[in-house]
Amino acid sequence: MNPSPLAGKHIVLGICGGIAAYKSVSLLRLLIKAGAEVQVVITPAGKQFITPVTLSSLSQKPVVSEFFTANTGEWHSHVDLGLWADCMVIAPATASTIGKMAHGVADNMLVTTYLSAKSHVFVAPAMDLDMMAHPSTTANIELLRSYGNTIIEPETGYLASGLTGKGRMEEPENIVKVLEGYFARSLTLAGKRVLVTAGPTYEKIDPVRFIGNYSSGKMGYALAEECAARGAEVTLVSGPVSVTTKDPRVKVVKVESAREMLAECEKAFPASDISIMCAAVADYAPAAVADRKIKREHSEVPVIELVKNPDIAATLGARKKPGQILAGFALETDNEASNAVEKLERKNLDLIVLNSMRDKGAGFGTDTNKITIIDREGSHPYPLKSKTEVAADIVDSIQSRL
Ligand code: C5P
Repeated sequence: MNPSPLAGKHIVLGICGGIAAYKSVSLLRLLIKAGAEVQVVITPAGKQFITPVTLSSLSQKPVVSEFFTANTGEWHSHVDLGLWADCMVIAPATASTIGKMAHGVADNMLVTTYLSAKSHVFVAPAMDLDMMAHPSTTANIELLRSYGNTIIEPETGYLASGLTGKGRMEEPENIVKVLEGYFARSLTLAGKRVLVTAGPTYEKIDPVRFIGNYSSGKMGYALAEECAARGAEVTLVSGPVSVTTKDPRVKVVKVESAREMLAECEKAFPASDISIMCAAVADYAPAAVADRKIKREHSEVPVIELVKNPDIAATLGARKKPGQILAGFALETDNEASNAVEKLERKNLDLIVLNSMRDKGAGFGTDTNKITIIDREGSHPYPLKSKTEVAADIVDSIQSRL
């Protein structure tokens, strides 16, 4: 049997004070069984639910909870723990700890370790359905997501309160699967160079107006981060967006117009092993940019003459060398599959990711996407998933062609 991708990994398991803490014992057991070295950090409230003796027996390490050992005055270094960890998983994560993590309230060892952690962090919330649904909880979870943490969504089911709803911590077996997937994928793109385009382009009309579109950049940023998490050197050529990346391994090059985007892509493309064209590039740009604001007081309605923008994907497709992989996107409203196949051929892509505007939860601005990956062999539809999960599916599909 192959060893688990968790073998030899250093994992900090954070446990908060919620009834789901009883499941943390199984989680710890499974992590140890997979060969991981686990350091448990528990909040003061967590100890009301589960004893440190159980946890230290299973992990074979003293459980960390306080900043100091009371009788010796020994300081427990959250900084060292944060550096030691290959990943941190907080399960269960209560509303209180999620709030503290989101806002940097470092009043216990678990939160200080979280704030010091250099590694990836997984958060498995568990709470009553009304707490889970409160705008404060959902906003805090979104903040954690924006810090780059992976949220292991709770399930809907029977809760300790006797009510039924969303808030059950994900089962330990599934948490282990998420962690195994993460470590199995890490470094599989080491040494590879990746170019990603993201967001819209803005084509200037005058100093204050532009032609643009609703692309949020979320899908492209998720793809760039996924490739970086797998060890690639990533250049992300991004149009104007409000999303940011916290991943220092992603080199972001900000541009505004399609022509600027093309120029940056032309620089990065020759050395790129994989290029993913995710930007929603404006098809047309004003032929001339007015040097002053066009005034409404004009007697006639102005006519803006447009010129065609360069097709970045097609330009790179024409220069593609053997061994380079070029992926594109197609956002369609009708004749989805045939339009996508036509673009695959015309732009000389290796694969095209189709999203249909007819699918709920797909397309611009959403946090989810529903895709079909089309290549010359056929098409592969995927279910509706978060954009982070969709990014992992797309990168898996690209990697299978390397
Ligand atoms: O032709 P269409 O815009 O639908 O094609 C979409 C694909 O082509 C996307 O991958 C998009 O990033 C890319 N594209 C491009 N330059 C353009 C237009 C589209 O790179 N000018």
